[in-house]
Amino acid sequence: MTIKFDELLGQFHAYLASVDDALVREAVARIGWDMPARAMKPHPLGCLRHLDRAAELAPMTAKPLVQALARQRNDLHWGQTYSEADFGKDFIDNYGWLEMFGTRGHFANSEVAAGLLILGPEIVYPDHHHIAEEIYIPLAGGTEWRMGEGGFRNRQAGEVVHHASNVNHAMRTGKEPLLALYIWRGGPLAQKSTITGTATQGRN
Ligand SMILES: [Fe+2]
Repeated sequence: MTIKFDELLGQFHAYLASVDDALVREAVARIGWDMPARAMKPHPLGCLRHLDRAAELAPMTAKPLVQALARQRNDLHWGQTYSEADFGKDFIDNYGWLEMFGTRGHFANSEVAAGLLILGPEIVYPDHHHIAEEIYIPLAGGTEWRMGEGGFRNRQAGEVVHHASNVNHAMRTGKEPLLALYIWRGGPLAQKSTITGTATQGRN
């Protein structure tokens, strides 16, 4: 089991190393990639049904990572920070994340957390903020992202989206699900975000 997850971490690292972006290069260089593995119980979630489509949508450079993730989905420990009371049942049935490494992930790292987020189709992840700085790389196109006072912007697969510390941000999916890679650093790595938006935001 641990050997499989070593391979997954290797694919995660290899994909990030292929991203041609100064912010990502700097983040990747700072990460100590020789991290101790943690024993984690499998914890699958309903949102994992979107991973087959996510593997089809992933850009060529991300396919090895996403296919390995899809294959091993049921052995991994998936989490949810929110509950139905926060954003409703539809959101909870279509949302989940995997922490590859961090203070609670499959590999231990106290400086930086990183992993993968799943959102199903037609989902709004409302305005929220947190102290940690966040770098997202959507691995599917057709999703919209906003930060601060700006409006929603369509982002392509492989684009780098940077959320500064404590600045509100939101995202919403269209007809397809979203799998996105994230990196959190410079703040409490397991903090629940402060919510400022609602699940109907942006739908009018
Ligand atoms: Fe965030």
